[in-house]
Amino acid sequence: MIAIYPGSFDPITLGHLDLIQRSSRLFEQVIVAVLRNPNKMPLFSVEQRLDQIRLSTEHLPNVKVDSFDGLTVNYAQMQQAQVLIRGLRAVSDFEVELQMAHTNKTLSTQIETVFLATSNEYSFLSSSVVKEIARFGGSIDHLVPPHIALDIYQCYNQKSPMLNPISTEAIPPLKNISVEREA
Ligand code: PNS
Repeated sequence: MIAIYPGSFDPITLGHLDLIQRSSRLFEQVIVAVLRNPNKMPLFSVEQRLDQIRLSTEHLPNVKVDSFDGLTVNYAQMQQAQVLIRGLRAVSDFEVELQMAHTNKTLSTQIETVFLATSNEYSFLSSSVVKEIARFGGSIDHLVPPHIALDIYQCYNQKSPMLNPISTEAIPPLKNISVEREA
C-alpha cells in the first residue's frame, strides 16, 4: 500500500521525521509530499524543503519526496496511493484534521486518512514553534536535524544561538560559524 504524507514542512521537524520513520514501517512506500501553496509566504522555497527532506530521509529506502499543487486527493490518486497520513498532537489538531479528512472523503471515497499519534516527546513541536525560537535567538538543535538548524540560523542571521536554558549540555558551536570566527 502506498501512503502520502502531505504537508507544508516549512521546515520539516523531528516530529515529522518520527512520523515518517514509523509510517515507513507500516506502508510499502511513503511519499512525503510538499504542497506548492501560492497563498503562503514560506521561510524556505519548495525546492529547499525538498532538499532538506531528502537529506533527512535518505536512510529510509521506501520513502520518496515530491511536491504537488492542487488537491491532495488528486495527487494521491495520481500516485496510486490509498492512504493519507496525518499526525495528531493534541485535541486541537483533531478538530482541524477530522474536518480535513471528512472534506477529502467527499472528494474521493478511495482515499483513507490514517492518523498517527505523535510521539510524546514531540507533542508540542511544530514548524512555527521552531521558526519562532530561532527568530528570537534560541537554540533549535533539539527540534530539527543539524543541517536544517543551520539553514534556519542562516535565514535569521543568527550566528550564535543562545543555549537552551533547560538543556544540561552546552550546544557546540556550528562548524562553519567557528570557521567564520577564526577568519
Ligand atoms: O503541514 P500542513 O500545512 O498542516 O498541511 C496541510 C495540507 C497541505 C495537508 C492541506 O492544506 C492540504 O491538503 N492542502 C491541499 C488542498 C486540499 O487538498 N484541500 C482539501 C482538503 S482541506
